[in-house]
Amino acid sequence: MANVTFSSRVLPKDVTVYAVAGDRGTILSVAEKHRIPIPFECRDGECGSCLVEIVTLTGKTMGSQLTEKEKAMLKSLGRITAAELADAETNDVMPRFRLACQTIVRDQDILVRFLGDQPGDAV
Ligand code: FES
Repeated sequence: MANVTFSSRVLPKDVTVYAVAGDRGTILSVAEKHRIPIPFECRDGECGSCLVEIVTLTGKTMGSQLTEKEKAMLKSLGRITAAELADAETNDVMPRFRLACQTIVRDQDILVRFLGDQPGDAV
């Protein structure tokens, strides 16, 4: 189990939910299940509208599992550095920004920040 806390100015307060790690559930699917309004369009890592900032709260920092598609999108958005990319690929360290539709929930507590009124406009 993992605690996923969503934070956004469009929420009256931060919302923490429990998610089952490793069931292929994405942050976007967890958000939808709990009516957290993360903007999205394609659900396939191609539009960048579901960009979120992720902070690891407990446990080992993990969860890179970046697909080539997500890497390309984060690069095009200017939201990942070469150092973050290398760290993700070699040490499984989560980069600061991810696509919610591509990020699988793992066994760690995380904070997910998004603005919510502009697609792809993370905090
Ligand atoms: S919804 Fe398009 S990249 Fe996530």
